[in-house]
Amino acid sequence: MNLLRRQPRLLSKQGTWLLKGFAVNRDVSKPVSCFAPALSSVSLSGPAMDAPATVPLVSVVSQSAQSDGQGGGQGGGSGSGAGGSTSRGSTLRGSTPGGSAPGRRYSGGGGPAPAPAPSPSPGAGGGPAPAPSPGAGATGAAQSGGASAGKPPQQPPPPPPPSPTAPTAKPKSTTPRMKSFEIYRWKPGDQPQLQTYTVDLEKCGAMVLDALILIKNEMDPTLTFRRSCREGICGSCAMNINGTNTLACVSHIDQNESKCCRIYPLPHLYVVRDLVADLSQFYDQYSSIQPWLQRKDLKREAGSAQYLQSVEDRHVLDGLYECILCACCQTSCPSYWWNSNKYLGPAVLMQAYRWIIDSRDEATKQRLDFLKDPWKVYRCHSIMNCTNTCPKHLNPARAIIQLKRLLVGLQKKEKPQLKTDALFQAKA
Ligand code: SF4
Ligand code: SF4
Ligand code: FES
Repeated sequence: MNLLRRQPRLLSKQGTWLLKGFAVNRDVSKPVSCFAPALSSVSLSGPAMDAPATVPLVSVVSQSAQSDGQGGGQGGGSGSGAGGSTSRGSTLRGSTPGGSAPGRRYSGGGGPAPAPAPSPSPGAGGGPAPAPSPGAGATGAAQSGGASAGKPPQQPPPPPPPSPTAPTAKPKSTTPRMKSFEIYRWKPGDQPQLQTYTVDLEKCGAMVLDALILIKNEMDPTLTFRRSCREGICGSCAMNINGTNTLACVSHIDQNESKCCRIYPLPHLYVVRDLVADLSQFYDQYSSIQPWLQRKDLKREAGSAQYLQSVEDRHVLDGLYECILCACCQTSCPSYWWNSNKYLGPAVLMQAYRWIIDSRDEATKQRLDFLKDPWKVYRCHSIMNCTNTCPKHLNPARAIIQLKRLLVGLQKKEKPQLKTDALFQAKA
């Protein structure tokens, strides 16, 4: 019954749907399936971090239990944190997804050689050639060889003039611009609550994820959320921001300071802690559609040649393969809210369609037979919440419609334009 209290009382984008309560006690410590690349890392509660750390999800549950003792007394953090150091904010803005900001690097011989040191007696043809500086590449070596053969030493190239179009950093205002963030907090054994943090937008990056990282680093290290790539690729940071399921790393902070930003975990899922939702069921459903290439005679073909695909056949997969399995669409679908144990949901169905229409896949009939069920597909009523919310601008609702057409025979899968195993046959 404890889990009944974990459910975030979320509203939909229109603010009309209450979430379904939970009646089944689930073991959230069960490891997620292997189809969980987006779950590969989690921001743990713990000491503040300069660089984002990544740890497997399976360790989150156990570690979050260890750090439960840190959860209390966070209310005072907002005031002191808002006036905290300025260096952290600028660090966040300048950092790259990998935690490093590599400058331009030249390899030994491939890149331009550094300018040689000026000759002590310019114009003296018989003078010693300028010694190549350490690390000079092939170009530098050629220049020194030419000078020793009697040619006048080449003048170092002038430094390039500054580009007139180079962007100049806009100086940040010193006037603080304080904005409130109301964040859903829950840890096992507690009542869920909204905690308010006040962040100076002048010291924070542009995205909601920047604000969350700043809060975690400078105000409250117990705040727990997932993140990894910080560029909309991994799908880890999916959450409900101001009533919309989206990715925190690609959501701009509304610069209107009078408006509070409200952040909840993805709706209609068990909550592991704070903003971390349990996606186990989603990944189990994804696994059920067997999202990999299937061939009739895999034993004969495996590893011996590549499967060919024409450019046109490849284009059929556009708008489908880009899905990052963030589950934003899945958890915005009212049909999935009410029947999540039987209805597969938009993200899973779109991937089912993606494999069915792949010209290289030969398990079309088995895949369609698996979906011929009153629940797996037909609970979709084309409400379109899924398409409206997808942060990658994909269209799961359209894929489901086409899937239904395939199921009832209104549409047939095209024959592949290239024999997919042509190279294998040539070898045999
Ligand atoms: S179109 Fe279908 S899958 Fe998408 S939100 Fe509506 S019911 Fe759910
Ligand atoms: S279709 Fe869009 S919202 Fe749904 S899981 Fe894929 S990327 Fe996320
Ligand atoms: S952190 Fe990877 S999608 Fe946001």
